Amino acid sequence: MHCDYNNAAMRVTLFGATGLLGQDLVHALHGEQLAALSSKDADLRDRVRVNRIVKDSHPDWVILAAAYTDVDGCESNSDHALSVNCEGAVYVAQAARQAQARVLFLSTDYVFDGTKSSPYETGDPRNPINVYGQTKARAEVRLLDILPDVCIVRTSWLFGHGGKCFPATILRLAKPQPEIPAAPEISATPRISVVNDQRGSPTFTVDLASALVALCRKQATGIVHATNAGDCTWYDFAKEIVRQAGLPAEVKPVTTAEFQRPASRPAYSVLSPASLHAHGIQMPDWKDALRRYLAKAPTSL
Ligand SMILES: NC(=O)c1ccc[n+]([C@@H]2O[C@H](COP(=O)([O-])OP(=O)(O)OC[C@H]3O[C@@H](n4cnc5c(N)ncnc54)[C@H](OP(=O)(O)O)[C@@H]3O)[C@@H](O)[C@H]2O)c1
Repeated sequence: MHCDYNNAAMRVTLFGATGLLGQDLVHALHGEQLAALSSKDADLRDRVRVNRIVKDSHPDWVILAAAYTDVDGCESNSDHALSVNCEGAVYVAQAARQAQARVLFLSTDYVFDGTKSSPYETGDPRNPINVYGQTKARAEVRLLDILPDVCIVRTSWLFGHGGKCFPATILRLAKPQPEIPAAPEISATPRISVVNDQRGSPTFTVDLASALVALCRKQATGIVHATNAGDCTWYDFAKEIVRQAGLPAEVKPVTTAEFQRPASRPAYSVLSPASLHAHGIQMPDWKDALRRYLAKAPTSL
């Protein structure tokens, strides 16, 4: 049975409740009937357990925010990445189909290759350039086949209070260093090198969580792009973090080629908000979201 009334509590089963996004989803789902699951409660690779949990929780919606999200780690652990991000998602979709529940699946801007120079629309062809993106792209195709009314939400560059994220790293690196009396020529001002040739949209997990709950309430189907408004490079993002936090660090722009990582990243992965706006949902600008993140960021980083 689906929850059709806007004010009735939804029954939601959330995989990935302990993650960066999942923790804010738990807050945003306050007032709904929520089954919040970590990997210890249900490993996505355990088909029988996933099926039992979905069946027993009688959800209106299953939100699948669980994933193996270590983009570089996926390159050397591709079997694990595929079994969690794709096969695990398929187990959830099959269980939801049996339980007649809707599924909202979290996907990524990394399903695209980054060769465009204008925002990606939901119908643009997938062409992932790293293993993480491949596992998510494959999962999208399988889920659309199993559940024609699935809602796939692609997002990007998440930051939030629930764990490791880019602003937390920059704040840690930008903290003034103690002066070394024996070597006063060594500057106490931290210098941070950040890539300036990858463009995307930073997204605050608090804003994304409330957009996801709204999409469930609106019975959304199909592919939706949901990020904070505006876009920037990682370098711009770091500069803005340092500026808003009032830290004396110097941020230096570097190229992706100078900063080799195991996984390739798309040079441009800005997602068009048209599909989100079509549901009457707007997300704030990323600089405004960063201000709210910093207002609560931990002081001891
Ligand atoms: N982070 C980003 O920048 C970003 C960008 C685009 C899309 N996304 C997508 O958004 C979603 C949320 O990302 P996130 O950054 O919040 O993730 P995260 O912080 O890495 O959290 C991952 C969550 O998945 C769970 N999990 C991992 N392996 C599992 C397994 N085998 N079985 C069951 N649960 C498992 C973890 O549970 P434990 O705590 O028990 O390990 C945790 O709750 C993911 O689908 C991700 O692909 C993220």
